[in-house]
Amino acid sequence: MTAETASPEAAAQPVVKIDGITKGFPNRKKGFQRIVAETNVDIQEGEFITIIGPSGCGKSTILKMIAGLEPIDEGAIRLEGEPITAPSRKLGIVFQQHVLLPWMSARQNVVFALETEPGSTRSREELNALADEYLDLVNLTEAADRRPSQLSGGMQQRVGIARAFALEPQVMLLDEPLGALDALTRHELQLQLLRLCEKQRKTFIMVTHDVDEALLLSDRILVMGAGPNAEIIHDITVPFSRPRDVENVEQDSKYHELRSFLLGSLTGH
Ligand SMILES: Nc1ncnc2c1ncn2[C@@H]1O[C@H](COP(=O)(O)OP(=O)(O)O)[C@@H](O)[C@H]1O
Ligand SMILES: [Mg+2]
Repeated sequence: MTAETASPEAAAQPVVKIDGITKGFPNRKKGFQRIVAETNVDIQEGEFITIIGPSGCGKSTILKMIAGLEPIDEGAIRLEGEPITAPSRKLGIVFQQHVLLPWMSARQNVVFALETEPGSTRSREELNALADEYLDLVNLTEAADRRPSQLSGGMQQRVGIARAFALEPQVMLLDEPLGALDALTRHELQLQLLRLCEKQRKTFIMVTHDVDEALLLSDRILVMGAGPNAEIIHDITVPFSRPRDVENVEQDSKYHELRSFLLGSLTGH
């Protein structure tokens, strides 16, 4: 049965199903080392999921497997029931560092991604309008004609986010998207990402090491234990109502309790 089948069962199935996967890599000392222990997660349409865990536990590896960029050893990851075996336009990716084409303006970078999509039939005007719409969503209207070298690190990251969103993937994968930014810019972009994802309720799977970022943005937080052979040790529902802002999240009675629980589980206390 394909994803397009409009049956009640199809509507109820998770958009992404991580189904008994394991993953390891060749290892010089041991021959092979399992990095990710057997993992099962169901992700529903519209959920914002965050994965946190100690450095090297396999967060990026899991995200790459969902993106179809890394083969899976055992089990499968399904997108609307179909195993993911290769990258797909249904899966958007935002990494920590963006590869923007340096000779193109911010707008041209977004347009280029749109027009190189297979089957693209949009006119130049439509492409420009769509790029401007997404640049506006990340407050870059003023900077649309500037090249990457004329943009700050935070602005470049926003171009990358606008580009990924403009492709309108069904599931957005973000690997420490704000990790390379200074604290102030990072905070500003967290709020922008929050507005963006509340406006476009698509499915998000994000890796971060920032507990406050996880609490601000997510519906669910998956905490991974230390590797090798790491597993998800907690699957936490974030109870804050939406739309959110920093004030109503931080004033929620559950915020401090969740925050110290998460910090404790990251440091093993
Ligand atoms: N292509 C690879 N070949 C061998 N080992 C790898 C490869 N990719 C990742 N690893 C190892 O897998 C572990 C998990 O890496 P990663 O998923 O990047 O961790 P995280 O994102 O949680 O910091 C690390 O020990 C890393 O060295
Ligand atoms: Mg990583």
